[in-house]
Order: sequence, then structure tokens, then C-alpha cells
Amino acid sequence: MSSNVLVELQNVGKTFHSAWGSVEALRDINFSCFESEFISIVGASGCGKTTLLRIIAGLEKPSSGEAFFNGEKIEGPGYDRAVVFQEPRLFPWLTVEKNISLPIQSQKGSQKTEQIVEQVLRLVEMSNFRKAYPYELSGGMAQRVAIARALAFEPKALLMDEPFSALDAQTRSRLQLQFIDLWRKTNRTVILVTHDIEEALILSQKVVIMTPSPGTIKETLEIPLAYPRNKDTLEFIELRKYILKSIL
Ligand SMILES: Nc1ncnc2c1ncn2[C@@H]1O[C@H](COP(=O)(O)OP(=O)(O)OP(=O)(O)O)[C@@H](O)[C@H]1O
Ligand SMILES: [Mg+2]
Repeated sequence: MSSNVLVELQNVGKTFHSAWGSVEALRDINFSCFESEFISIVGASGCGKTTLLRIIAGLEKPSSGEAFFNGEKIEGPGYDRAVVFQEPRLFPWLTVEKNISLPIQSQKGSQKTEQIVEQVLRLVEMSNFRKAYPYELSGGMAQRVAIARALAFEPKALLMDEPFSALDAQTRSRLQLQFIDLWRKTNRTVILVTHDIEEALILSQKVVIMTPSPGTIKETLEIPLAYPRNKDTLEFIELRKYILKSIL
């Protein structure tokens, strides 16, 4: 594994001001993520997980402190960081393959785009549905297309905000396993926000635990378990209990 720091947040704070008052969403966040690393961020609702991810994505600016990506200050969104949201956000009037090709066409050119589309569809096992429209897909299939679209940017980092949470338990489990496979094949850096402690433990190498009001990082845990992970082992159960206690 490479030891380059890809994401670095130094003393980052974020306060939102609105008509009814101010909310300190993040305070004094120090966070780093190495290249190829898979990190999950867990914590109670409102503790600032999405805000943290949006700062890394360049969709939100810190109120204090500094955020860096690949050694450069984050000034806005970029092709080097692709975001997957809770819902797939596909264009309903475009086929699966057009949903993936359209955003990258001008950046990559037609020939490269065609190759990439084929490759990412294969990775998420959706090649047979390239001509389908979003309304013809199940929720899990649509979310796989959204992941394929994010991968098509060939980003240095995938930033995922509860990407599996809208799915039923079985589909979620299947997609988690597929996603682990995909991560090991593509070697991408992944930062995943999730409510689901079990999901964080199945997927990631490190779990960042946040606590609310204001959102701070309480602890970062290394998960020393080999992949694929088994939920029934004592170590897994102990880690789950420990994290659950920490976020309450
Ligand atoms: N654009 C905004 N304007 C005002 N306040 C905001 C804005 N975005 C987030 N907040 C506030 O910042 C805090 C953190 O919100 P955030 O969405 O980051 O939490 P979260 O941990 O992702 O929660 P959830 O698990 O429910 O998605 C909340 O108190 C929220 O009300
Ligand atoms: Mg959120």
C-alpha cells in the first residue's frame, strides 16, 4: 500500500449561519486518509458526517482550518473526487450507458469513454443493462450504476454518503460484498459515511467515530480483521459493541 497522504484536514471547523441562528457543525477536525485506504465515518445523526464529506468534495468551504487533497488546498469540486449519494441521482431520460458516458465525454474523448463505460459496467455487473432506462432498474441496480458513474471519472478518491442505506438488508449485504471486491480490484481510496456500524466494520480498514454538538472526531480505530469479514466472530462483535458505546 502506498503511504501518500491523499486527504488532510487541519483544525477544520464549520459553522452554518441561518435566519434562526448558528449551528457549529464541525469543530477542530483533524483527519487524514492515505492513498488506497478505505475509511468509514460513523456517528449519530447530525454529528457532521455529510458536512465533513462535502468539505472534502469541495462542495462546502470550512469556516476555519484548512483542507487539502493530494497536497493542494481544496478550492472546489474536481474530477479527482467523485461523490456517491444516498440516492442514485441518475438522469431518468438517459440510458444506463449514457448516464455514465455523458459526464465524462468531453474530458476523456469518445474512444476512451466507450472503453471506460464498458469497464465500469463490467465491474458493477451491469453490462447486460447498458440500454436500460433508470425506471427499469431496481434500487440496488440503480445504485450500482451510480457507483459505476463515479468510477468512470477515474477519481483518486470515491466519497460515499450512505450509498447503501436506502436498500433492503439483503441487497445491501450483497452490494457491500461486491463493493469490497471492487475496491480490492481498483485500489481506489474510499471514504464512506454511514450510520451502520456493521457496514463500517465489514468494509473499512479504519473507522472514524464522530460525536455531535459540535461535531468532533472522538476516535479513529484501525480494524485489524482480514477480508472478507465475518460478522459472527468474537472480535467483530466486540468491535461493534465498542463503537456503539462510543457513539451514544
Ligand atoms: N446547509 C446547511 N445549513 C444550515 N445548517 C446545516 C447545513 N448543513 C448541515 N447543517 C447542520 O449541520 C449539522 C451537521 O449536519 P450533517 O448533515 O453534516 O450531519 P450528518 O452527520 O450527516 O447527519 P445524518 O446522519 O442525519 O445525515 C446539523 O446540525 C445540521 O442541521
Ligand atoms: Mg448525512
